[in-house]
Order: sequence, then structure tokens, then C-alpha cells
Amino acid sequence: MPTHAISYHSFSTPAGLSPEDQALLEAARQALVHSYSPYSNFKVAAAARLADGTVVTGWNTENAAYPMCICAEPATLAAAASSRPGMPVIAMAITVKSPTQVLEEPASPCGSCRQQLHEHETRFGQPLRLILRGETGPVYVFDKAGDLLPFGFSGGML
Ligand code: THU
Repeated sequence: MPTHAISYHSFSTPAGLSPEDQALLEAARQALVHSYSPYSNFKVAAAARLADGTVVTGWNTENAAYPMCICAEPATLAAAASSRPGMPVIAMAITVKSPTQVLEEPASPCGSCRQQLHEHETRFGQPLRLILRGETGPVYVFDKAGDLLPFGFSGGML
């Protein structure tokens, strides 16, 4: 049977990251306070580093019409596009805060977010590194967003 393996880096604490990635994760953590999530009370925030070094942040924004919720990851991609049109995002740190538990494992981007992150990196032809952490605990780093979307749909099929 064919198999597909996903490889990623796991660091027991952020201290194992490069100073740049540590700073990006800290920027994401600080952005959690902006999350507008009165329905789930689940906060998600992200910080993106662009190819020119600019850092932008974003967070989840919910709506009384639940399906209209905007996830932190596409909000951050949109913030990057507004801030520096045409400039690729080369890394994104994503972190979360649950209202009911201290999340000790990284929460992974949902399927829709993975699709959008992967489109971004294929569009610009540059890997988009993902740095994931819960409230505490290990940090997982994926060298490119496509690693989280095996067998994903891509424009090459159109
Ligand atoms: N959420 C994100 O912001 N990103 C994800 O990848 C998964 C889920 C948000 C949406 C909603 O506001 C809350 O988390 C609970 O699902």
C-alpha cells in the first residue's frame, strides 16, 4: 500500500528556534489579545514574516452567523497583502488559547487554512514555514505549508 510521510521539526521549547522564529512566535502570542471570538472563546493568532522582513499579525474574527468566522491564518495573509502588496510571506507562527484547558500541544491549521497557506506558497514559488505552538509545550515547525496538505487540490488540476 502506498504511504505518505509528513516530516516536521519538534522543539521541546521555543528556545530551540532561531531568534527570528522565537520573535515571530512571541508576536503571535501577543496578538491573541485582539482575537474577536465571543462565540467559541477560542483565540487564535498568527504572525507572518514577509520576504522583506516586515512582520504583520492577525487573529480569528467570529460572527453571529457562525460560518462567516474568519480564521487567524487567512486574516494574517490578508494583512500581509494589504501591508506589502506582492510581497511573499515566508514564515508564519500560529498559536492558540483555549477557554477550557491549557493546550500543551500545537493546534494545527484547519483544512481551509491549509489550502490558503499552500496557495500562497505556490503562487509566490517560495516555501512558507509554519511554526505552531499551543499555550505551552513543544513547538512544531513545518518547512513548507504544503507539507500539511498532502494530496491537496491545486490549480494545476484546472
Ligand atoms: N480557527 C482559526 O482561526 N484557525 C484555524 O485554523 C482553526 C480555527 C478559529 C475559528 C474560530 O473562530 C475558532 O478558531 C474556533 O473554531
